[in-house]
Amino acid sequence: MPEGELEVWSVIVAAGSGERLDADRPKAFVRLGNRTLVAASLEAFEEHPGVSGVVCVVPEGWEDRLSAVVDDLAAGKVAAAVAGGSSRAESVRRGLELVPEGVAFVLVHDAARPLVTTAVIDAVLIGLAEGADGVVPSLAVTDTVKRVGGDGTVVETLHRADLRAAQTPQGFPAGVLRRAFATAGADAAVATDCASLVERAGGRVICVAGDPQNIKVTTRADLHRAAELLADRAD
Ligand code: CTP
Ligand code: MG
Repeated sequence: MPEGELEVWSVIVAAGSGERLDADRPKAFVRLGNRTLVAASLEAFEEHPGVSGVVCVVPEGWEDRLSAVVDDLAAGKVAAAVAGGSSRAESVRRGLELVPEGVAFVLVHDAARPLVTTAVIDAVLIGLAEGADGVVPSLAVTDTVKRVGGDGTVVETLHRADLRAAQTPQGFPAGVLRRAFATAGADAAVATDCASLVERAGGRVICVAGDPQNIKVTTRADLHRAAELLADRAD
């Protein structure tokens, strides 16, 4: 990294169990082509010249398996692997603790998005360079989205043109993200992304272009779709 440039680290959260995928191991360690999901995600940050360090958050007891993945990729940027918590937010919090003081920006990425590209990481870094408190790669929504009450009664139909579907990596100035977690406290447990915590703390979060191929592997069907997309890329 050139002297004087602001350092960027990535926190890859891979500590979920993958209940909806229902595999015989944690989702991040399920194979996609010749890699695991976490390896594919890790590789994207390892190869990006703007990122200088990576922290990986894995299920308790899977730290050694992550070390094997790191050795296999010769991923020299991975500074630490730490066990995650019971919620995504708790896992991010544990990863963030291992990002050194002095690192300017943090990119938080879900291992469940193994098809993340250099272009998406670039778009997030550009948003951060412009001074946002949070940068979210996102897509326009194609479905009409309704908010419903507990019994399924529609409360409201949201204006589709105003909606975006959020992806990762989401980027933040490190101090902004640390403060958002400190402010949220136990409330963070229900958050499904990091940007929502920064929004609640009053930060200015912007959406930039995501990638339709940067899908989140949640179900078996997603895993098949990801494998097809990966095969198309290799052609
Ligand atoms: N995650 C995590 N720690 C948790 C829960 C989730 O690190 N306690 C991570 C997952 O590993 C994943 C990302 O957060 O990379 C997004 O979560 P999700 O797609 O919901 O994965 P899982 O929680 O593993 O899946 P499920 O909800 O189906 O159990
Ligand atoms: Mg989950």
